[in-house]
Amino acid sequence: MKPTILQQLREQTRPAHDDLEAQPLLRGLLASQLTNAEYGQLLQSMLAFYQSIESALVPATTALLAQHPDPDYQYLPRAPLLADDCRVLGFDSTDLVFPPIELHLKGSGAILLGVLYVIEGSTQGGRLIAKHLARTLGVTEHSGAGFFNLHRWSNSWAEFRHWLSVELENQYQDDVQSIIEGADMTFSALRTHLDHWQRCTHG
Ligand code: HEM
Repeated sequence: MKPTILQQLREQTRPAHDDLEAQPLLRGLLASQLTNAEYGQLLQSMLAFYQSIESALVPATTALLAQHPDPDYQYLPRAPLLADDCRVLGFDSTDLVFPPIELHLKGSGAILLGVLYVIEGSTQGGRLIAKHLARTLGVTEHSGAGFFNLHRWSNSWAEFRHWLSVELENQYQDDVQSIIEGADMTFSALRTHLDHWQRCTHG
């Protein structure tokens, strides 16, 4: 039987996921000696990433949903959650200086679906990270780890998977390579952004 779009995405983007997970700022997040300052760096860098991409991502997703409605799925912007976490913990979230990240959506629904797959799926890693943050720094969803606890109050990963596998599976059968391209592009854009951030903040 032919693998589903989600199965192909998972299989074929595993190397890109592993490469991102190995990025030192992200790897450090799961270290037993994680400090507040390191967590703050990560929050600020993620905020910069989402602020940059969401200005195009949010309207593009709204347009795709208008074309292919789903009863449940909607995109929840991540930048406000990250800005809130920064504020609660006292990390500056204004005037973050970084090169803008451009995800080339090319007006393609398939590329956009790949981008959304990466963002929505990342809540899976968030489960693990949230537990670690509570253990090491004592931060919870209300005290600076709202972004990494998204899975507690939002079903967006399940809703996105349902949208993709029920509403869109047939229509996007022939576009799987573009969906994977969109996902790989997102993994690597975040990796490049974090590498850059790390160079700028750690010399
Ligand atoms: C310290 C960093 C990270 C760790 C430890 C981690 C770990 C994980 C784990 C344990 C899963 C679940 C795998 C499974 O169900 O078999 C997962 C899934 C996933 N993660 Fe990560 N992750 C990290 C960072 C990220 C980031 C930054 C992104 C993207 C922005 C991301 C995107 C994804 C996606 C898309 C999936 C879903 C795969 C699928 O089930 O199709 N992860 N991650």
